[in-house]
Amino acid sequence: MSESVPNWLQEKSGTGAGEQPVVIATYRLTRYYGDGVVVRALDGVDMTVHRGEFLTVMGPSGSGKSTLLNLLGALDRPTSGRVIVNGEDLATIRDIDRFRARTVGFVFQLHNLLPTLTARENVEVPMYGQGISKSKMRRRAEHLLELVGLANRMDHLPAQLSGGQRQRVAVARALANDPAIILADEPTGSLDTQSGNEIMELFEHINQTQRTTILIVTHDPRVARRTRRILTMRDGRIVDDHPIQDVVWEDLRDLAQSRLGEMLLKGEDKALLERLGVATSDSVVALRVLRSWLLRVLKGGDEAA
Ligand SMILES: Nc1ncnc2c1ncn2[C@@H]1O[C@H](COP(=O)(O)OP(=O)(O)OP(=O)(O)O)[C@@H](O)[C@H]1O
Ligand SMILES: [Mg+2]
Repeated sequence: MSESVPNWLQEKSGTGAGEQPVVIATYRLTRYYGDGVVVRALDGVDMTVHRGEFLTVMGPSGSGKSTLLNLLGALDRPTSGRVIVNGEDLATIRDIDRFRARTVGFVFQLHNLLPTLTARENVEVPMYGQGISKSKMRRRAEHLLELVGLANRMDHLPAQLSGGQRQRVAVARALANDPAIILADEPTGSLDTQSGNEIMELFEHINQTQRTTILIVTHDPRVARRTRRILTMRDGRIVDDHPIQDVVWEDLRDLAQSRLGEMLLKGEDKALLERLGVATSDSVVALRVLRSWLLRVLKGGDEAA
């Protein structure tokens, strides 16, 4: 616990020209459970997330995704290592409740709304104790419910809303204090495809319009494919990290649907090169690389062939 942390982890400013500031950094982060048989839920995670990123964490059940998210949001404490959020070391932060309320917004698989409160009141809950007047809280809750497309459901109780609508209320609630970061643990896990898509569209919209950093844990490659970077976990470690440029992503998606893409995936390299009018050994290597990227697109980045 007394290890010194590299300076760049503590920096609030950017780490390079044109780069956004670091909003989340972990340093040799571990979380072990149990005293007899120790479970290494997190086993030395180093990661950096910049402001405005929209990323997913994937990986098999039990690989440590929720554990990581809970540590990033200060819902749990590490066994060792550091978590730095918005330039603050969570181990030394004075007012952790304030941090939780103001810096991060959580969305869980099951919305966790309070059943006796209306949609509007649920969105107001995180604003209590923040020195905000009642009328301002109300206006803000209404504004957020409009943002998530529930202007006509403000006074409904959770039980009177559909699953997708409840999850949208949960997103509005996560945004209540205008957090820098949204942490979402399988937010579409309990939803049908269409409601899941709507939640993802909402996250995209929030990420683009408010520059909120959004980190989503998911099992669903279709969800991951909509984000810009995919971290893959296995046995408490990050084993893969793919930042995907928008334009490359789009192009690869198009390619995957095309005849050339089909030939590429089938391994018809020779025919493909003939068709393109080239035939050198370098080209074969290039095709191999392209093929592995294409497989990543199709598998949602879970695993390259
Ligand atoms: N409170 C706990 N006590 C003991 N072991 C735990 C506890 N919470 C998690 N674990 C263990 O830590 C490991 C990581 O769990 P975690 O919940 O982070 O996995 P996950 O990747 O989120 O899985 P899933 O996809 O199933 O949600 C698992 O082996 C799990 O059994
Ligand atoms: Mg989990």
